Amino acid sequence: MARIRHEGPLIIGGGLAGLSAALEAAPAKALVVTPDLLLNACSSAWAQGGLAAALSPRDSAVLHAKDTEGAGAGLVEPEAARALTERGRETVEWLASLGAPFDRDEAGGFSVSLEAAHSLPRVARVGGDGAGRAILSAVVAAARASSHIEIWEDGRLRGLIQDADGRVRGALIERAGGRVDEVFAPAVVLATGGVGGLYEVTTNPSALRGEGLALAYGAGAEILDPEFVQFHPTAIDVGLDPAPLATEALRGEGARLIDGTGAYLLGEDADADLAPRDIVARAVHAARADGRGAFLDATKAVGEAFPHEFPAVFSACMRAGLDPRVSPIPVAAAAHYHMGGIVADDEGRTTVPGLYAIGECAATGVHGANRLASNSLLEAGAFGRRAGRAAAQE
Ligand code: SIN
Repeated sequence: MARIRHEGPLIIGGGLAGLSAALEAAPAKALVVTPDLLLNACSSAWAQGGLAAALSPRDSAVLHAKDTEGAGAGLVEPEAARALTERGRETVEWLASLGAPFDRDEAGGFSVSLEAAHSLPRVARVGGDGAGRAILSAVVAAARASSHIEIWEDGRLRGLIQDADGRVRGALIERAGGRVDEVFAPAVVLATGGVGGLYEVTTNPSALRGEGLALAYGAGAEILDPEFVQFHPTAIDVGLDPAPLATEALRGEGARLIDGTGAYLLGEDADADLAPRDIVARAVHAARADGRGAFLDATKAVGEAFPHEFPAVFSACMRAGLDPRVSPIPVAAAAHYHMGGIVADDEGRTTVPGLYAIGECAATGVHGANRLASNSLLEAGAFGRRAGRAAAQE
């Protein structure tokens, strides 16, 4: 076992939250530890829809916060929602400045699309349905080019080191080959993602099983609402785990949920298909449970535009031998996002001194019982950056 003393924040996780924190920690030195190569094994890279932000002239942070609270089933903390939505534009602009190639409208502004439970189009997309990978690629390039950031791509979190007062002083990191290093740091930032890998079928990388949450709990951190797990209503049902996603933006474009007889699952009114995610996921689950089946019919709404408008969904379907231009896509609800987690403020501070939590493993009060679509990349970027600055002060 080696004992290593690191002079800045030790960040566990290399998704959007962890790397945003690392970039903003400058000039403090940040050590980022991930179990795999950056871009692998993190949910951020798998996000299809995009990043929710009040970008259009008709929109505002207040309206975005109202929709966030509406989706969250009465359990969103209004101040946290405001702190998040007020940072929408600056977060998109920051990511664009790092090279994230957001889709643009004819005037050069950010083009935005509609997703469920948003009262108007608000999701900044990249390459149709490729937002997560494209945004994270830009952030990874920036992190690799930053001299204050060191990255270990073979490190697994095995424990937290605490002093006699309970303050977190570092972490046990298992490196390739099985050696465990004791890494001491002024602050440890958990950006370890969600718990999808604990479920039978998930849309997340299956390696994500809540280790950060469990270790934070063991260290005495307060945990909020661990039972709140969001199921995505339209995971593509082709017998795979992780299940490929059919982004909600498809329903935003007019795709409809139908059963095996072609009847609308949520009724004739197209707006019903854009209800909050928990409502739609329950309807999909019920239709499958009683044998009617559930399908997403995008043949009319997207049709021939599939290959360039939704390339990730198109190729996932084609790999499974299904052409979504002409056939409805079989769908199922699958574990997608953990709203509960380690209690943290909007700078990532947990209830344990020296320990921060950001991204999906954190519970900052912005999601309540049901996260509004595409608020997760916003939270990862906006609160991740703030946590990086705060942890660098420790
Ligand atoms: C989707 O594109 O449907 C997923 C977006 C999200 O989970 O925020």
